Amino acid sequence: MLEKLNEIEKTALAELETVQDEESLAQWRVTHLGRSSAVMQVFSSLGTLGKEERPAVGQRANQVKVRLEGALAEKTEAIHQAALSRSLAEERLDVTLPGRRLPLGRLHPDTQTLRELYRIFGEMGFQVFRSREVESDEYNFQLLNFPVGHPARDMQDTYFIAAEGRGDNPLLLRTHTSPGQIHAMREFSAMDPDNPPPVRIVLPGMVYRYEQTDARHETQFDQLEGLAVGPGITFGNLKGTLADMARRLFGQDVRIRIRASFFPFTEPSAEYDIECFLCNGKGCAVCGGGWLEIGGCGMVHPNVLKNGGYDPERYTGFAFGLGPQRIAMLRYHIQDIRLFWQNDLRFLEQF
Ligand code: DAH
Repeated sequence: MLEKLNEIEKTALAELETVQDEESLAQWRVTHLGRSSAVMQVFSSLGTLGKEERPAVGQRANQVKVRLEGALAEKTEAIHQAALSRSLAEERLDVTLPGRRLPLGRLHPDTQTLRELYRIFGEMGFQVFRSREVESDEYNFQLLNFPVGHPARDMQDTYFIAAEGRGDNPLLLRTHTSPGQIHAMREFSAMDPDNPPPVRIVLPGMVYRYEQTDARHETQFDQLEGLAVGPGITFGNLKGTLADMARRLFGQDVRIRIRASFFPFTEPSAEYDIECFLCNGKGCAVCGGGWLEIGGCGMVHPNVLKNGGYDPERYTGFAFGLGPQRIAMLRYHIQDIRLFWQNDLRFLEQF
């Protein structure tokens, strides 16, 4: 019996030598340590052995079993290690491959356009002045020469946010950046009420209108207002500023056109167009008649100067308002203004 156990041990270990993978290892375990394996059969036959033989055989059988289990554990570990180093070899880094691009953020097309406008006006000596988005009726309309009930209010359908108990002065979301003119002039003139300093500012920001939305209308858009006040400022200065802006924006040869219009806070008032830089004024799908409408402008109304603390006998001024989104639409051929604030990455990633 002891002979047989030696034989069992030898065969099992020899067979284990040839095992290379987990599958045949599992097979080996069943064959040599499983319930019907040769060692296990020796254990079950112990009862049939004589009293003298039994302890020695039992002990030896146990030795063999422990030995085989130990060998199995070693082999298992060896196979694991081999698999691991094989996968490391496969994963080896190829440093000659091109790197993976990190996703980069970018500036919104409207922000890009605004920043270019800040640069252009900055070069002409205009500072940026920020003003509030929640306004009173007084600032949004009355101080700009739209008295209560004035028909020009109909051009700017308004979101009122707190009307109750405020009489003729409800709170609202500003419909244009023009009320910033009053805030700015009041802040500047308060510095030296007898001799208010000259003003040269641009006022950017969101404005809100109760609009039916379509490809050209949104309930929220932004404006860039301009204001220059000083002794002896003329309509010629306004034209020169707008023409210079157009050239800096769209190139040296571009021309502007000024058409008479009406705004309560300017007199005279005008709208200004830039010659279409896409078709050079010939007329195309974007501009229609060869001119792009950019915004409104005019000489600051004497009442508005007065409301800002500037004596209209001593000071004159010009103002203008333009739509940065409109300029961005022209530049980047964006066909629907509603794309701007939808935060759709398919749109934003193009800029
Ligand atoms: N506030 C006007 C609007 O939103 C635009 C405008 C017109 C602004 C003439 C001006 C201006 O400063 O002089 O329709």
